[in-house]
Order: sequence, then structure tokens, then C-alpha cells
Amino acid sequence: MTKRKKPEELRSHRWYGLNDLRSFGHRSRTAQMGYSREEYAGKPVIAILNTWSEINTCHTHFKQRVEEVKRGIWQAGGFPVELPVQTLAEPFQKPTTMLYRNFLAMEAEETLRSYPADGVVLMGGCDKTTPALLMGAISMDLPAIFLPAGPMLRGNWNGVTLGSGSDSWKYWAELRAGTITEADWQGIEGGIARSPGHCMTMGTASTMTSAAEALGFTLPGFASIPAVDSRHAQMAAKTGMRIVEMVWEDLKPSDLITAGSIDNAVTTCLALSGSTNAIVHMIALARRAGVELTLDRYDDISRRTPVLANVRPTGAYLMEDFFYAGGLPAMLAELGDLIDRSQKTVNGRTLGENLEGATIFNDEVIRRRSAPLLPNNGLAVLRGNLAPDGAVIKPGAAEPRLLVHTGRAVVFKDYNDMAARIDDEALDIDETCVIVLQHAGPVGAPGMPEWGQLPIPRKLLQKGVRDMVRISDARMSGTSYGACVLHVAPESFIGGPLALVQSGDLIELDVPRRKLNMLVPEEELARRKAAWVRPEPRFTRGYGALHQVHVLQANKGCDFDFLQRGGARTDASGEPEIH
Ligand code: FES
Repeated sequence: MTKRKKPEELRSHRWYGLNDLRSFGHRSRTAQMGYSREEYAGKPVIAILNTWSEINTCHTHFKQRVEEVKRGIWQAGGFPVELPVQTLAEPFQKPTTMLYRNFLAMEAEETLRSYPADGVVLMGGCDKTTPALLMGAISMDLPAIFLPAGPMLRGNWNGVTLGSGSDSWKYWAELRAGTITEADWQGIEGGIARSPGHCMTMGTASTMTSAAEALGFTLPGFASIPAVDSRHAQMAAKTGMRIVEMVWEDLKPSDLITAGSIDNAVTTCLALSGSTNAIVHMIALARRAGVELTLDRYDDISRRTPVLANVRPTGAYLMEDFFYAGGLPAMLAELGDLIDRSQKTVNGRTLGENLEGATIFNDEVIRRRSAPLLPNNGLAVLRGNLAPDGAVIKPGAAEPRLLVHTGRAVVFKDYNDMAARIDDEALDIDETCVIVLQHAGPVGAPGMPEWGQLPIPRKLLQKGVRDMVRISDARMSGTSYGACVLHVAPESFIGGPLALVQSGDLIELDVPRRKLNMLVPEEELARRKAAWVRPEPRFTRGYGALHQVHVLQANKGCDFDFLQRGGARTDASGEPEIH
């Protein structure tokens, strides 16, 4: 039988239960809010970390959902406390929400540490909110459950189904090529995002909320429910009910995260043909929990994992269809022996127990292992003299003819240089060239923005070219596609070999052999290296300065070096006394 905590063993007892002046202060101030002792005494205090704001379009329904979470907490005998945290609104925050992922992770951890929380509901979904909240919760190691925002409904324009991001890139290229009109473009603008919820392609949001479910952090099946479905509201109440029990059972992130559950989450990301961003986030999450997830491990799992989700941008459908086809449990069940079913989840049962009865209702959307969308290699890790510490590509999202390709480099020294020259008629470029962007990495950009789907020059678009090999130390949106080599490490801004590439160099990409090389003699590279001068730091003060000093490279998850130390278990047990 599971050992249950006693009320006086609750962490919040130190704030509320003692007979001293400090506790008097906490109780009198709680009374100030209209609560009598009977309403909270001896009950678990459940922090609700809510990333709602008026600028996070993916989380507009969280204002209502948080009330449903509270309803569940009250019903289960807990005391809910909503705590707003940074919102990380993907479309609006510049230069990139990735710059602030670690900021939210720190905020989540420190908010939980400094207030009387016994357990926490993490409300996230828009891209970086999921990894950030999980990273903070893992480091704090209090009982934690994740409430995914859920995908928005399919987009629609003139009877055409539209997918977030993917169809923005697609129709932007068509507009630049002159094949659609300005009026068409405005119609797409009005119909591509038509309900609350996060992006409904297999972008970073759907990838990471699914990874959270595979890791055991959500109740079963919850990552796939569309945001506006009434079952999403039911899910919120059930999540609130469950966290109260988790506190009494003392079921913590360190009970859920193991090398096996990390492998399950990686397998899930790959079977979904999920966002390349998930690589960075999964490495960071794993390292917070003391599990060393390497790019090579990711590549090994990729070689054995079939892509089963027929969801854009790799496939044809959207998250709404994926939910109706059975959702994530159906896909995980179909993965069979590729998933470790013994791993624990937030409901106290194993992942395997949760998958009993999971059924595929439409095997065009969720493919059988006998008829996958791709047999394997949803992602490939590349190495060579251009990326000694690794780079990644999503082969299924590229035109196959480009997966083995040697071409002449056309180099842009930063984003502004690229924006100024890419459509210049005089630019010396053709469709066999390799477009290279420097200074777009974790330190250099800063924050490693999603610039990696570099634009095809207008003059080539007009010739009908829709894909080229593109290389950068940036990331790309999970909704993007193309032969884009990303996350080159070490990055150019700190002197990685990408900094040494010059226009005219030949670059060799060989995905089957996992190779990425610049075909430049060693002596010449040594000469360029000796002449290289580190650029001036982007920031001299504030959070940006902290970020550029402490952020790790992409192959290490872009966490801050000082946040990985010790890991969850020592931090939680080493809490300072409160005063
Ligand atoms: Fe929020 Fe895509 S903009 S998930």
C-alpha cells in the first residue's frame, strides 16, 4: 500500500500549521483574502502556475480552465493558489521565446520554492512554456502534473484546410512567387488561427505536450484533446483532483523521470515526426533530472522508430484529426515494444496500464507499424568538420534529392545581412547552392531563434524552386520544412567552424552517412581560424548578459550551466529555512 503523508508532514505546514508569529502572519493574511481556517487548515496547498496573458493567443482559454482546475482541487480537498508566471507567447516575443525559456524555468522553480506549495499544476502548451515549466518542476521536485493547452481547431480558408505555421510558410512563398493574390493572403490571415489553443500542426507545442504525456506528466490521453472540446474542460478538473492525491502519495517528478521514460518521450517525438526543437528541450529536461541524453542516443532511437503520425508538416492531417483517430495513447500502443511500459505516470499507474484498450480509429491518420509514414529516421544527427558537436536535420521534411548533396556556399553573416540581400537580383546563387546563415545560435542571435528555414531567393522561387540545402546554428519552427540543417554546434558566434565558412566553399551534406563537411583544406581552415575575431557581446547588462555567459550549446540543451548542478533531488532536500 502506498504510504500517505500526514497533514503535519505537508511542506505548507511550515507556513500555516505552527504556533508562532510567522504562521500567525500567514494565517491572518489568508483571512484577509476571505478564507477561514476551516477552508485550508491541514489541506495540501496546490500552486497553479498559469502562463495565461492577454498576449498569449494559444492560452486564451486558460482564464477559464484555471477555474476548472481549482474546482477539481477543491473537490479533492486541496487549497488552490493561482500564481501567474511568464507567458512566453511564441508569435510576439522577440527575438525569440527561446531566449526566455530558462527564465520561465527559473521562475517556476523559485516560485515553488519560495511559497507554501505542496504540489503544482503546470499550465502550458505554447512552444517553450511546456519545457520551461517541466524543467522548473523537475528541479524543484514537488508533486507536479501538467495541464496541456490543447491544439486549436483546423484552419480554414475558402474550403482549404490550413495548418499553423506550415501553411504560412507555404503561402508566403506562393505570394512571393506571384501565384496567389494579396486578397488570398488576407483570407488566409483571417482563417489560419480560428480558435483558442496552440498550433495544430506537429509543431513544437504538440510535440512537447505529447512528450510530457509520454514522460508520465499528464493524465492519459490529455495532450491530444483540442482546446475548445468540452473534454478539455473535464480534463482540467480531473487534473486538479489528481494533484491533491499526488501530494498525499508524495509522487514526484523524480519518481517519473528515468532513462527509460526519457527514451519513451524521445521515441514519441520521433514517431510523431515532431519538431526539431524537441531535441534541445528533451536534452535540457533530461539533464535537469540527472539523465545524460546525448545527440547520439537521439540518433540511435531515430534509426529504429517508425513515423506513425500522418500530421503536417511531414504528413497530411492536423491534431484535431489525430485526436479523433485515437490520440497519443493509440499511437503509443501501436509502438509496442519500442515503448517501455513499466514507467510510472502521474495517475500512479504504469504507462502500459494506461495504454490498455487504446485503439486506432483511423489508420490513415495514425499509421500501423506495418504501414508507417516513414520506416525510420524522422530525424538525423550530422557530424563533420562543419559541426564537430553535431547538427540535426529532419529528412522527412526535405526534398529527397537534397539528402545527398554537394553545393557552393552562399554565406550571410547574420540575419540582417540575409534579409538585405536574399532577394537581390544580383546575388550569385542558383538552386544547387547551399545557403549558410551565421551568428544565429544560442549566444550569437541571441537565444537561437527559429530562423533556420532560411528563405529561398525570390528569383529562384519564381523559377519553381521550393527547397534548397540551408545550414545555420539557429533552430526552426516545428511547423517548418525543407532541407534545413540546424543547431550546428559549436555555434559561429563563439568560433565554431560555421564561422569560418566563406561564400564559394563547397559544402557536402550526406544524410544517410550522417555527414556535414566543408571541403576546405585543413591549412586554409587553420589560417581562417587564426584570423577570426570574436564579435562584441550583444548585451552588457540584464538578463541578456546573464544568458550569454551561462547558456550551453544546442547539443547540451541550451540550459544555463549553473541550473544543471546537483539536479532535482539535492535541491529539493536542501531548501533553506524560511524566515
Ligand atoms: Fe503558440 Fe504555435 S504560436 S504554439
